[in-house]
Amino acid sequence: MKGILVSELSYTYSGNKQALKNVSFQLDRGKKLAILGANGSGKSTLIQHFNGLILPQKGKVTMGNHGVEQKNLKILRQKVGIIFDHPDDQIIASKVSEDIAFGPRNLRCSEEEVFRRVKEALSQMGIEELQDSSPYELSLGQKKKVAIAGVLAMKPEILVLDEPFTGLDPSSREGLKKALEDLHHQGHTLVITTHNVDMAYEWADELLILKEGEVLYTGVVEALEDKELVKKGNLESPGVVRLLENTGITGKNIEEGNRKIKEALGIEK
Ligand SMILES: Nc1ncnc2c1ncn2[C@@H]1O[C@H](COP(=O)(O)OP(=O)(O)OP(=O)(O)O)[C@@H](O)[C@H]1O
Ligand SMILES: [Mg+2]
Repeated sequence: MKGILVSELSYTYSGNKQALKNVSFQLDRGKKLAILGANGSGKSTLIQHFNGLILPQKGKVTMGNHGVEQKNLKILRQKVGIIFDHPDDQIIASKVSEDIAFGPRNLRCSEEEVFRRVKEALSQMGIEELQDSSPYELSLGQKKKVAIAGVLAMKPEILVLDEPFTGLDPSSREGLKKALEDLHHQGHTLVITTHNVDMAYEWADELLILKEGEVLYTGVVEALEDKELVKKGNLESPGVVRLLENTGITGKNIEEGNRKIKEALGIEK
């Protein structure tokens, strides 16, 4: 079943900057997609099409069963949750817990359910102690966690995060990873944009690499093992791929790589 279908999408900003050129790809429902690409390659422009913040000028975008077009905007905003990299733009209420409650209330959840979801989202992002604070008086990373908790509480069918791990400390990164894993197991479709190739390689099922608004690659995340492709995309190879180069050993992250090296060398523990 289709989660996301983008076909021949082009977008030009006023002022004539063409940000997307004939972009096509698809993602099955329940999969994890990482979108990579250099600064200005079109990642944020693309994901703004996913809930209709930008409507396609040319080509077509379908999210689940709904085309991205004017008449579907309301349903798209419910089905697709997006976190942008400017958390200030997403603050709605003057108290953190109220801010997180806004989404589920909008979805007409019962107050009991709203309370449950707010509590769960606060815990997933490890920000229980901030629940009575004003979101405007938080640090950037804390604001980001509040914004992410707000979208997690909506449990959107498709969750899209623009650079979610940038600016988060290690324990918040782990908390977010765990929250995303839970959503993945519940069947949600997940999309992140990132400059972190290690994260993409370890986390994603599928990969989309954009270059100057065009699709450079769409397919499996193992493509990041291809040095030529990585260079073309102005990216770097994942650290674990560089570490294990020419050894015949593979691993998706440093821990797995470490374990496999020890196995290969016959080192116990
Ligand atoms: N509001 C805007 N008006 C005009 N041009 C824009 C606007 N937003 C983005 N662009 C241009 O569109 C192109 C794609 O930008 P976009 O923000 O989609 O890139 P990105 O891949 O998200 O980059 P980054 O990694 O820096 O976040 C860039 O050349 C940028 O200058
Ligand atoms: Mg961007």
